[in-house]
Amino acid sequence: LATAAIAAALTATAQTAAAACDDGEVVIKFSHVTNTDRHPKGIAASLLMERVNEEMNGKACMEVFPNSTLYNDDQVLEAMLQGDVQMAAPSLSKFEQFTKVFRIFDLPFMFKNINAVNEFQNSETGQAMKESMARRGLLGLGFWHNGMKQMSASKPLISPEDAAGLKFRVQPSDVLKAQFEALDASPQPMAFSEVYGALQTGVVDGQENTWSNIYGQKFFEVQDGTTETNHGVLDYMLVTSTDWWDGLSDDVRDQLTTIINEVTDERNAAVGEVDMQARQAVLDAGAEIRELDADQRQAWVDAMKPVWEQFTDDVGQENIDAAQAINA
Ligand code: LMR
Repeated sequence: LATAAIAAALTATAQTAAAACDDGEVVIKFSHVTNTDRHPKGIAASLLMERVNEEMNGKACMEVFPNSTLYNDDQVLEAMLQGDVQMAAPSLSKFEQFTKVFRIFDLPFMFKNINAVNEFQNSETGQAMKESMARRGLLGLGFWHNGMKQMSASKPLISPEDAAGLKFRVQPSDVLKAQFEALDASPQPMAFSEVYGALQTGVVDGQENTWSNIYGQKFFEVQDGTTETNHGVLDYMLVTSTDWWDGLSDDVRDQLTTIINEVTDERNAAVGEVDMQARQAVLDAGAEIRELDADQRQAWVDAMKPVWEQFTDDVGQENIDAAQAINA
C-alpha cells in the first residue's frame, strides 16, 4: 500500500511538472550547469523564468533545468541546434566550436575587474559579438556576468612556480590551456559537474573559478585554500537558436526581448554583491583565502600575460587596445 501511495504521489508530481506549460504556449527549456541560489547565473535564470511565466502566461512558458540535470555544457549547444532546448548561458569559454571572438575574455589579466568587462561588452564591438555565431545557428541575447576567477590547488599557491607540475582542470578553451602551460602546469579539460570528484580523488590537483562556483560546488572542501588572483574573467552568453528565435511571432519575441534585457541589466548590476557573498560563505565554511601583495601578484602577471601573443590574431589588437584603455 505504502509503495502504491508513493507511486501515486510520484505520478502526481510528474503530472504537475508536465502541466506547468499549457497547450498553445511556446515552451522554452533553459538548461544550465550551476546551482540556483547565491549564484549569478542561477539567480538570473530563475528570475527570467518567473517573469516569463507570470507576464507571458498563455503565450510562453519557461522551464529551467539547473545543475547539469539536463545537459552539460559540452552537449547543450548541439542540443539547442537540434531544438531540444531553447536557451542556455554557457560561459564564454565554451563557444570555441562556434567562434573565436570570445577568446579575449579568457586571456589572463585582460580586464582589471568586472566593471571593465561590463564596459567592454557594452561597447559596439562587444555588442556585435552577440551576432558572431549567427552563421552557425546561434544567437547571443545578452552577456551575463559571473565574476573574476581565483585559483586553488592541493597545495598553497603563492608564486607562479607553485603551480608548476600540477594538473589543473580547465574549461574547454585553448586560451585557458595555454595559460596553464605558461605556468608549466598541465591543463585538463573537464565538464563542470566532474570537477569536485576529480579534485577529491586527485585526478587533477587544482582549478580556477569564481567565488560563486567555488562556493556552489564546494571546491574549497577538497583544496588547500584558494588564492585570490582575480586573474581572469568568467562570464556568460545567454544564447538561443537563430531558427527558433526567428520562428517566434513578433509579439512573443518582442516581449521576451524586453524581459531578457531587464533581467540582464538588473542581475548584472547586482553581481558584485553575489560574488562577495559567495567569497564570505567560503570563509564562513572555514576555508582559507590567500591574498597576494602587489609584488606577488605581479609575478603571476609576468608568468601568464605572454599568452596574449599567441592569440592576438584571433582577438584583434584593436580589441586588446580597447580593453586596456578601459582598464586605464
Ligand atoms: C565552468 O565550467 O567552470 C563554468 O563555466 C561553469 C559555469 O557555468 O559557471
